Amino acid sequence: MEVVILGGRQAGKLAADAIEHLLRRKPDAVLGLATGSSPLPVYDELAARHERGLDFSRASAFALDEYVGLPAGHPESYREVVRREFTSRVNIAPGNVHGPDGSAADIPAACAAYEEAIAAAGGIDLQLLGVGTDGHIGFNEPGSSFTSRTRIKSLIEQTRRDNARFFGSLAEVPHHVLTQGLGTIMAARHVILLATGAQKAQAVSDFIEGPVAAVCPASILQFHPHATILLDEAAASALKLADFYRHTYDNKPAWQGL
Ligand code: F6R
Repeated sequence: MEVVILGGRQAGKLAADAIEHLLRRKPDAVLGLATGSSPLPVYDELAARHERGLDFSRASAFALDEYVGLPAGHPESYREVVRREFTSRVNIAPGNVHGPDGSAADIPAACAAYEEAIAAAGGIDLQLLGVGTDGHIGFNEPGSSFTSRTRIKSLIEQTRRDNARFFGSLAEVPHHVLTQGLGTIMAARHVILLATGAQKAQAVSDFIEGPVAAVCPASILQFHPHATILLDEAAASALKLADFYRHTYDNKPAWQGL
């Protein structure tokens, strides 16, 4: 696990560098997309690079998760958020952008089909992640199985309250979601998790420096062979080894990249 502590929007640039590098090496790369606030600087940066010629025409993308029960086209459905914040701003083919189907009549079949679609695309090359204040990744709330695959989950009330800012009121935030499992996320070849702000400091210190435990789902990333964690100073403020992470990154050989 590589921990990088940066100021402001630099994290977005660094994650975009990794995605640009991947697309130049593998134009048909498979991207895993998070929603929420954390990845927005990455999407802004990628949209700017697309204007300067970065090509997404052969790439494909899979969303991490989706609310259950929001009508198609609801502005806060993750399919719509992914389209608005990212895929409509680059030249990725709309047919290559996938998300779990939160309005499916047969939810288990829709989840199995989503896993099959990821496998058929060759697996996810680079998965963007945020982390919840309770340590969730995707919508794998505390207690999620480390080997889980895409399935329905109930949101913890803390997560519903955190996400109420995107809705008119707390009552409008769905209780259920479909999410890639922790096993699905762990199968991505590279994961980049972004976290900013003091409200993430406890979860960040728990998953980076605490024990690997289902009560903190993001802690499973300690077992990932290629996990990059991009933090601002506030999100890093509870880390015991912050100076070591800074020193390591400042002295990293340039050829290594992320
Ligand atoms: C979003 C997702 C969630 C968020 C997390 C952090 O697709 O899967 O895990 O990444 O809730 O949300 P923000 O970035 O809004 O703080």
